[in-house]
Amino acid sequence: MILTVGNIKGGVGKSTLACNIAAALSLADSENSILLIDGDKQGSAATFEQARTETRGNAGFTCVRAQGSEVLNQVRSMRDKFDHIIIDAGGQDNPSLRAGLVASDKVLVPVAPRSFETWALEDMVSLINEAQITNERLEALAVINLAFPRGKDNSQTEEIIREDFPSLHMLNPPIVQRKAWSDAAGQGLCLLDPPRKDVKAIEEFLALLAGLGINQNNIKVIYNVSTKKTKTA
Ligand SMILES: Nc1ncnc2c1ncn2[C@@H]1O[C@H](COP(=O)(O)OP(=O)(O)OP(=O)(O)O)[C@@H](O)[C@H]1O
Ligand SMILES: [Mg+2]
Repeated sequence: MILTVGNIKGGVGKSTLACNIAAALSLADSENSILLIDGDKQGSAATFEQARTETRGNAGFTCVRAQGSEVLNQVRSMRDKFDHIIIDAGGQDNPSLRAGLVASDKVLVPVAPRSFETWALEDMVSLINEAQITNERLEALAVINLAFPRGKDNSQTEEIIREDFPSLHMLNPPIVQRKAWSDAAGQGLCLLDPPRKDVKAIEEFLALLAGLGINQNNIKVIYNVSTKKTKTA
C-alpha cells in the first residue's frame, strides 16, 4: 500500500497518524518492510523515527526526508523494495502533498471537527480530484481526528463531509483527542507499544487500521476489563 496522510490544514494530526500507522505496520508483521517518507520541512516524522530508534533500538521502519518531486522519485525508486510506503505530506498546498497524491493508492485526510477545518476541506478535495485525473486508483478516505469526547460536533462534521464531499469515504469511529497520542509520540512510541494505557484510544486506532485495510492478525490486543489495562501478544 502507498498511503499519503494529507490535509492542507495544519495541526490536524497528519504526522501523528502517519507515524503511528508506519509503526503499527511494523508491529503487525515483522516481515513487513515499511518506508515512511517525511515530506514536511518541519521533519516531525523523521524526529519520531529518531526518537523511536533511541527508545526501542530499532524503529521498525525506514524514514527518509523528501520534498516535492523528490517524494515522487522516492516512491518510484522504492515501491518495489518496500511492502508499504507512508507519506507524511506536511501542511498547506505544497509540492510534496501533490506528489504524494499522484503516487499513492490511498489518501487519508484527518479532519478536526471545528469550522475552520471543514471550510478548508473544499480546497483539499479539489486537490484530490485533480490528482485523480492522472491517478485513477487514488482512493480518498477521511477520519475525524482530535474529536471531542462528547457533544454533537463530531457527528455534525461527519454529516457535512458526507453531504458536501461525497467523494471522501468516512472512516469510523472518530479519533478522540486523548493524551495517550501525544504522550506516546513524545517518547517515540506508537499507541500499540507498551504501556498501552488508553484502551479507547487503541480501539479507535485499530478501527482506523481496519478501515485502511491493514491486516491485524499479529496485533492481538488483550483487554483486561477489570484493570482497563491492555497488553499485546
Ligand atoms: N488524537 C489525538 N489526541 C491528542 N493529541 C493529538 C491527537 N492527534 C494529534 N494530536 C496532537 O496534536 C498536535 C498536532 O498533531 P500533528 O503534528 O500530528 O499534526 P499535523 O497535521 O502533522 O501538523 P502540521 O500541519 O504542523 O504538520 C500534536 O501535538 C499531536 O501530539
Ligand atoms: Mg505534521
